[in-house]
Amino acid sequence: MSKNVAVVTGAGSGIGQAIASRLAQDYALINIDINGENLAKVEREISANGGDVQSIVGDVAKRDTHIKARELATTKGTLTAWVNCAGWTRGAALHDFPNDPKVFEELMGTNQNGTFWGCAEAVHYFVNHKIKGAIVNISSVHGRRAWRDHAVYEMTKGAVDALTRNVAVTYGPYGIRCNAVAPGAVMTPALAQSFVDAPDPKARRESLELLTPLKRIANASEIAEVVAFLLSDKASYVSGQSLAVEGAWTSALGVGDIDEQLARSYGLDPKTGLPLG
Ligand SMILES: NC(=O)c1ccc[n+]([C@@H]2O[C@H](COP(=O)([O-])OP(=O)(O)OC[C@H]3O[C@@H](n4cnc5c(N)ncnc54)[C@H](O)[C@@H]3O)[C@@H](O)[C@H]2O)c1
Repeated sequence: MSKNVAVVTGAGSGIGQAIASRLAQDYALINIDINGENLAKVEREISANGGDVQSIVGDVAKRDTHIKARELATTKGTLTAWVNCAGWTRGAALHDFPNDPKVFEELMGTNQNGTFWGCAEAVHYFVNHKIKGAIVNISSVHGRRAWRDHAVYEMTKGAVDALTRNVAVTYGPYGIRCNAVAPGAVMTPALAQSFVDAPDPKARRESLELLTPLKRIANASEIAEVVAFLLSDKASYVSGQSLAVEGAWTSALGVGDIDEQLARSYGLDPKTGLPLG
């Protein structure tokens, strides 16, 4: 029987790497990343664990990268899953916006255009081979809530959610599903670097933990599990959704009050709800 194949973009690091490692249990993989060195490392790790993986070094902003992945998938088995995860953020104030493609064109290119071309090539394959495939796009809490100086990032993630709905509605009649996962704070090299860059890294980290009702930052594997579920037949009636995986962050009206007595009985700081010590 032909193997099921999944494409994962941004597989060289962080959430994309965790998704690739998780999906290697169920699929032959085609990993894409612009960082060839990291991609090769991930390929070695997955292969060492018995996974079937091939890598494409490329920029997701370019349609050709996705065409290559689609063509390679055809030679490996049956493409049934595609995850658009490559993305990044860079803040900049709108009232004094820099003349720098990194904070506009390149950011839009990766997050928005990259997801668009990924979806386009995935459905091209699914339709041409009459496959009831599934797509997961990695969005963000920034697609639904605002944070100072993140206008461009938030536009791209709002666009990812809109594209997800469009693909789900247009191709639903043919059994193709498309969902997004909108993570909150996830411990990845990108988030770790944002702490390093902050004036007070510890305070920056704690501010995110405080804002999140679960009072902690997610592991990338916690996002990967949800992606695996959404791609699987267990989610056969889930489509067009952007599922927030953010420890209830976007349900909260700011940093809520803590029941001090209850927090103490759990051994937590009664003021913050964070672990003591
Ligand atoms: N970490 C978080 O807290 C968080 C929260 C919400 C959403 N996200 C989203 O999750 C996704 C992954 O983020 P992460 O934190 O794992 O970041 P990361 O930097 O650890 O990994 C991102 C990967 O994407 C690759 N990449 C970047 N631009 C690319 C391009 N043009 N073409 C191909 N590959 C490219 C990078 O080389 C890197 O390997 C992004 O879409 C991000 O917006 C992250």
